[in-house]
Amino acid sequence: MNLHNDIPKHIAIIMDGNGRWAKAHGLPRAQGHRAGAESVREAIDACKELGVSYLTLYAFSSENWSRPPAEVSALMVLLERFLESKVDDLMKQGVRLRAIGQLDRLPAKTRAMLDNVIAKTAGNDLLTLVLALSYGSREEITEAAKKIALMVASGEIAANEITPDFFGSQLHTSGLPDPDLLIRTSGEMRVSNFLLWQISYAEMVIVDKFWPDFRQGDVFAAVKEYQKRHRRYGSV
Ligand code: FPP
Repeated sequence: MNLHNDIPKHIAIIMDGNGRWAKAHGLPRAQGHRAGAESVREAIDACKELGVSYLTLYAFSSENWSRPPAEVSALMVLLERFLESKVDDLMKQGVRLRAIGQLDRLPAKTRAMLDNVIAKTAGNDLLTLVLALSYGSREEITEAAKKIALMVASGEIAANEITPDFFGSQLHTSGLPDPDLLIRTSGEMRVSNFLLWQISYAEMVIVDKFWPDFRQGDVFAAVKEYQKRHRRYGSV
């Protein structure tokens, strides 16, 4: 196994276990999220080092809006701090930022900061960092189905033009390749409404650590595991 050949082009990560990490350390949940933001930097650095082209992080799900308001604001503040403190690094590292999800549900200030970093980094092409924010896959698929229904109703397209590729082009991830490797931390074996369409053929690696304990070496280990798998895409 080596870390130079057969590198996944797109890694997606379900960052799970911030709350349990905080509990295990006798800390408030917000501290777990704060420690988790450090692991985000580790994941980006590891992907840069490996030459991964796309990294998608599940930072805030549609369901996360139902958490206590103080936790939701702590997460928004962390995101704002990340955007503010990381923009120079992203520019230096050649990282482009994108976001998927119902972004209009984000607080106006958070959204403005996000749009600003997305615009500023738009010309970078070494790694695309995709933040899933207020994201839910069923919502994304439902929105795409509605858009397509309207296109058919208005005569813009015919029903038989709806192919899997066309459907995929109407999702928030339009233009991004599907993830090759999906990592989930904290030992849970669930996909939790994350990229349901896009992970059809992704290899899954479950890491038995809480997200705040996740380090660059865990990305390397997951990629080594991925390289051992034989991807068959349904054939023999
Ligand atoms: C899951 O842990 C994690 C989240 C809901 C949020 C992820 C956010 C971060 C890692 C920090 C900020 C992100 C960026 C991009 C700066 P959980 O709270 O569900 O943990 P639990 O299952 O142990 O309760």
